[in-house]
Amino acid sequence: MEEPHIISPIKLLNEDNLRLDKRRLDEIRPIKLEVGVLSRADGSAYIEQGKSKILAAVYGPRELHPRHLAQPDEALLQCIYRMATFSVEERKSPAPSRRETELSKVITESLAPAVFLKYYPRASIDVYIQVIQADGGTRCSSITAASLALADAGIPLRDLVAACAAGKIDGKIALDLNDMEDKSGQADLPVAMMPRKNLITLIQMDGFMNKQEFVEAYELALKGCRKIYEMQREVLIQKYISIQEEFSEEENEQDNGG
Ligand code: CDP
Repeated sequence: MEEPHIISPIKLLNEDNLRLDKRRLDEIRPIKLEVGVLSRADGSAYIEQGKSKILAAVYGPRELHPRHLAQPDEALLQCIYRMATFSVEERKSPAPSRRETELSKVITESLAPAVFLKYYPRASIDVYIQVIQADGGTRCSSITAASLALADAGIPLRDLVAACAAGKIDGKIALDLNDMEDKSGQADLPVAMMPRKNLITLIQMDGFMNKQEFVEAYELALKGCRKIYEMQREVLIQKYISIQEEFSEEENEQDNGG
């Protein structure tokens, strides 16, 4: 099929190939990650990626209701992606949209290969993802946060899942599109992977790219995933270092008769 000639309504790149938010083409947005942010959940994580802000909460493994959904040989992983009514520019209806149902499915399928589901037959592992502020790329940020929340819950994983999109803006391949770039750009290619195993768990594409552009965008997205993976690992390592420090402080106090 002939590629339609799409011209962006706004110029997304300047003459130095810098983007509207001053990023280079191969730069991801600033990322902040936290784990253990919710005390009632078994595991939780928070991500800020540029202006996107997302919370993920994990409950389980726990008894599954309704019971007829239970699988005799493994746990059922259920991810529910929801956007707050105030998370986007135009108020979103609180009723679950078709897009939210689709993203819930896509996110579940991106994470399932990483979880040792066979360890928990008949059980349910529930992951609630709440987008508090959306600025593009929320499915990828949700996967990154949900995978951290699963690890924070102590659920055995083959690897963390890291996700990042690449796309095409003003005819050039760029990493981690924001909302404006997503809407005014020509293509978006979200990818999720288990970096240690080098396994892809999600690849989707929206828009138009030729084969060469696709390969370039795919490789760039993988680079983004690997960067994000390092940040995920770091935040988990820091969590266990602080637990270790707390324990040794307590031990010291007890040794000193405190
Ligand atoms: O968020 P992601 O890129 O994974 O999914 P999308 O369906 O391509 O949506 C792109 C962006 O559109 C979202 O991140 C939001 O910023 C925005 N959006 C919106 O403004 N209003 C909605 N009802 C849904 C999405």
